Parts: sequence; structure tokens; C-alpha cells
Amino acid sequence: MKSIPTAFVVAATLAAALLGSAADSAAEPIVIKFSHVVAADTPKGKAALKFKELAEQATGGRVKVEVYANSALYKDKEEMEALQIGAVQMLAPSLSKFGPLGAREFEVFDLPYLFDGYGSLHKITNGAVGQFLFRKLEPKGIHGLAYWDNGFKVMSANKPLHLPADFKGLKMRVQSAKVLEAQMRALGAIPQQMAFSEVYQALQTGVVDGTENPPSNLYTQKMYEVQKHVTVSYHGYLGYAVVVNKKFWESLPTDIRNELEAAMAKATVYGNAIAEKENDNALEAVRTSGKSQIYVLTEDERRAWKKALIPVHREQQARFGQELLDMVYTDLNFDPAKL
Ligand code: LMR
Repeated sequence: MKSIPTAFVVAATLAAALLGSAADSAAEPIVIKFSHVVAADTPKGKAALKFKELAEQATGGRVKVEVYANSALYKDKEEMEALQIGAVQMLAPSLSKFGPLGAREFEVFDLPYLFDGYGSLHKITNGAVGQFLFRKLEPKGIHGLAYWDNGFKVMSANKPLHLPADFKGLKMRVQSAKVLEAQMRALGAIPQQMAFSEVYQALQTGVVDGTENPPSNLYTQKMYEVQKHVTVSYHGYLGYAVVVNKKFWESLPTDIRNELEAAMAKATVYGNAIAEKENDNALEAVRTSGKSQIYVLTEDERRAWKKALIPVHREQQARFGQELLDMVYTDLNFDPAKL
């Protein structure tokens, strides 16, 4: 039998390899649909775009991240369901929105006056409690990747809100968290749960009288245009857990998943570095708009708010359990009796 010349074999192998790599690069990219409810021009919106940029770059186009901002794809409740059934792969819901999933422990972040700044917040998000909370998501088919900062909340209404008594009878929109309902009730208000995408219109038409949010959301959703008064109370925190569909995440090739984890870590550093400034700028923008009057609580008023709100911690303890609450208190060196 005539032997095949070596040069031919080499050429054929090379051609096959070239064809193979061409086929690989022409393969469909892995698509990550990342849905969220806020504007692109917010700490979360910017961090999501940063993740897209870094993830696509690091995987050389093998992964495509499609970011859908402003509830363009799903509203609050639907996006959680969409994640669980795999219709989207990635979300960054606020920590207040995990209760309806059955992960009520996340509501510990909603406790009023628990954190005295980003430093104390990070002790929790970067510590054992942060990891403990992520483990609660696994049985629900959700894997936690990172905690993203937004900021400390201000209150708004069409009347000045200086003291707890000013809230009496006001219908205040809250996220889907029982602790936030309890907070509003402790102030004498009537809490109304509502999807974020509906808040502007509800304020405009008087379906609700007021709301709470960090300045970045108040500004980018134009809520300040339909609220005459904003009180800088910083009575609570609003931030996010970046989560993925667990099955999807585990099905990714290891090298891709590693690249995505690295991209997420970098996007987190970026987003958390800009969050405070973004909120300060947004508050300043609301101030200069002249549409809302901004009021900063005095020390006495702040004390009165704390007096009304701190009892919510123990009252709502059953939501997250005494053990978790005590763990958080210890990590923060927080003593409610000393406030
Ligand atoms: C809200 O519903 O007020 C916030 O959770 C929106 C967000 O994602 O910041």
C-alpha cells in the first residue's frame, strides 16, 4: 500500500485545526441576560455595565452580557420568578426583596439605624453574615455572587417630615419587605408595598403620599419632581445582592466561570467605590433643581426618629431570628440601648 506523504498529513491536520478553531469562534456566545429595575445612570446601573464590559473582554466574546435597565424586561416580582425558571440568568435585586422568596433573613439589612455608614455595612456584606445569607439562597436555585452598594435612604412627601408625628396617616410606599412595613408603622404611617417601576406614577397621582429611597433613585426616577419635601434622615440602607441562576452558573465551563467571577469582583470594587459619590451628587442635583425642598434632620429630631424606630429591631426579630440579629449586633458592636 502506498504511504501517505508526511507533508500531506501535516497540512491536513493544520487545516482541520484551523477549521476547528474557526468553528469554535463562530460558535454561539453564552448569553447572560442581566435584568434590573433602576436607571443605567445609578450605582447599580453603572456596575452592571462595568460587569458587561469586563466579562465580554475577559472571555474574548465567548460570553455576551445583555443588560436590561429600568424594568425594561421584568418588574421586581417577575424578575425573581424569571431568574428561578432561567428566563434571565442574572439580577441584582435590593436586599429588601428576598423575603417573598422565603429568604427573610435578608431583611436584617432593612433595620432602621443599624449601620452608621458604608464602613459598618461592609463589615456585614464582606463578613460571615454576608456568606451566611448567600447560603440561604442555594436551596432556592439561586447563587449569590456579590453585594453591591447603593446608599442610605431619604424620606420624601408633599409635606415636611421633621418628626415621627409628621408621618401620621401618610401612605408611604415601601419595597416588598415586612421590616420596612413595620418601620413605616412605627412612624405612624400606612405602608404600601409597590413595584419600583410604579412608584413615580403612584406619587404623581396621589395613590401614595411619599416614599423612601437613596437619592440616586429619587433623582434618576424623577420622584423629586412629584414630591415637595425631602428629608435627609439616612434612617436605613438600600443595597443589592447580585445573584445568578444556580443551574446556569454551574453548567458554565470552569474557565468561563472563573473569568466571570473575576469580572464580577472587579465590577463590585468599581460600583462600591462610586456609590457614595453618586448619591451625594444626586442629592445635590435634587437640591439645585429647586423642585423639592431638602431638609436635614437636627440632632434632636434624629434622636426622636431613633426612639420611634429602634424598637422595630426586636419587634421584627422573628423575621430573621435572634441568633442572626445578635451576630449582626456583635459584628457591628451595635448596642440599641446606647442610641
Ligand atoms: C426600590 O424598589 O425602591 C429599589 O429596590 C429599587 C432598586 O433596585 O434600587
